[in-house]
Amino acid sequence: MRRLIINPDKKGEKISRNIYGHFAEHLGRCIYEGIYVGEGSPIPNVKGMRSDVVSALRGIKVPVLRWPGGCFADIYHWMDGIGPAAQRKKIINTHWGGVVEDNSFGTHEFMELCAQIGCDPFISGNVGSGTVREMSEWVEYMTFGGVSPMADLRGANGQKEPWSVPYFGIGNENWGCGGNMSAEYYASIYRHYQTYVREYDGNQISKIACGPNIDDYHWTEVMMSRCHSRTPHTNGADYRMDGLSLHYYTSPGGPKDRGCAVKFDEIKYFHTLSDALRMDKLISGHSLIMDRYDPEKRVGLVVDEWGTWFDVAEGTNPGFLYQQNTMRDALVAGVTLNIFNTHCDRVTMANIAQTVNVLQAVILTQGEQMIKTPTYHVFDLYKGHQDAQLLESYVDDRHIGTDEYSVPELHVSASQDDSSAILATLVNLSLHDTLDICCQLCGHQAKSASARVLTGKMDAHNDFDAPERVKPRHLDEITISGEKLLFQIPPCAVMEIVIDIGPVE
Ligand code: AHR
Repeated sequence: MRRLIINPDKKGEKISRNIYGHFAEHLGRCIYEGIYVGEGSPIPNVKGMRSDVVSALRGIKVPVLRWPGGCFADIYHWMDGIGPAAQRKKIINTHWGGVVEDNSFGTHEFMELCAQIGCDPFISGNVGSGTVREMSEWVEYMTFGGVSPMADLRGANGQKEPWSVPYFGIGNENWGCGGNMSAEYYASIYRHYQTYVREYDGNQISKIACGPNIDDYHWTEVMMSRCHSRTPHTNGADYRMDGLSLHYYTSPGGPKDRGCAVKFDEIKYFHTLSDALRMDKLISGHSLIMDRYDPEKRVGLVVDEWGTWFDVAEGTNPGFLYQQNTMRDALVAGVTLNIFNTHCDRVTMANIAQTVNVLQAVILTQGEQMIKTPTYHVFDLYKGHQDAQLLESYVDDRHIGTDEYSVPELHVSASQDDSSAILATLVNLSLHDTLDICCQLCGHQAKSASARVLTGKMDAHNDFDAPERVKPRHLDEITISGEKLLFQIPPCAVMEIVIDIGPVE
């Protein structure tokens, strides 16, 4: 019997719904085909957006969507993507496959997509190859409601009302594809560019700085010491950083030995999970530095790219980063989202890479067909954590795996929503053992409970011939006995358990 302890009297911070955010780049078949097919397409669409994909994304309550990149953001010139589609510039997507980008999906289309999904837009601005003026004018174009050259241009393009843009990234990976800058150089550039990201008409913008790659703690130190705003600034300067991004991909073996997304052995499975669990240490390490400069935690850590990165599927364009998605990916998502929940005092947003047909996608498409991946179902099981309050929770500290790749057998996070229902999300990393769980509620009594579980062999996946091979099922066998709940979790599984509690008699 394994113990799961949830303490409803020990509450943490609110889990921002934005931790369940997504990322869609002009990369391979993510935007084109995967999301946007154009109004003339035989695939059912509304204003060019695939209806099946939009409906699936609504189903997991996507709260925020990051766009247009990624590395693409720093080669993107937003004016190429406005005005009559036929007259838009065709450019080469130099980062991703060298294919023609016809700019038919631009700012207006992205805002339409967010409106259809019901999520907030998070725009990544171009620092690497764009100018301060270009970035400033984009913000004016999107958010200014009065009379100005950019607001007038927006109106001429059919959108009279300004949009709300709550999140704006000042560049992407500027230590790499976004300009190969040093931390010190980028810190100056950040202060410069962000000055001209204006907040018009009460539109509040969270300004998100490019943060470290993986464990580059020097980058975090420099950004926090030079760009974190103190009030008042000692030298009369006026700058602000609301978020610092972090990018970390689970890519076991690195670029030379990532391995196949579907065919892998148990050692690679544990290697992958152990790499995914590294996220916890990375967040703790960067948070320690951030805490020194910002003990009030005003600057959020924004993990705006995370997920698995394996070899591209055989026969596909290497620049398109298309990979299948198995139960192994589902477990990576399960433990990573648990980690984000437990760090919700610092992690204010996260964006899985990427929404459709790229890397750890929640959706795959083929022509008019669409499938939900195991990772999609994890977002479905976890969606109740959005804006709920973190609760203290523990499981027995028992490790499994190999000498090199040791991982916890069970992994958990828990939260409580406004109606006081408790949601615990549990991952069983064991490949062969069904675990008996005894859940204790520290003096509180369970009135009722329900659970759903996603389970399968480590390489189980959905494909276009079997789109529902992996999907959650209800778990009926839960015994409630006073403060305790008894149930089982199958091997290689992600589970949600929702518990209604009442006061102790
Ligand atoms: O998500 C794919 C790429 O990974 C992004 O464009 C880039 O930011 C990162 O290196």
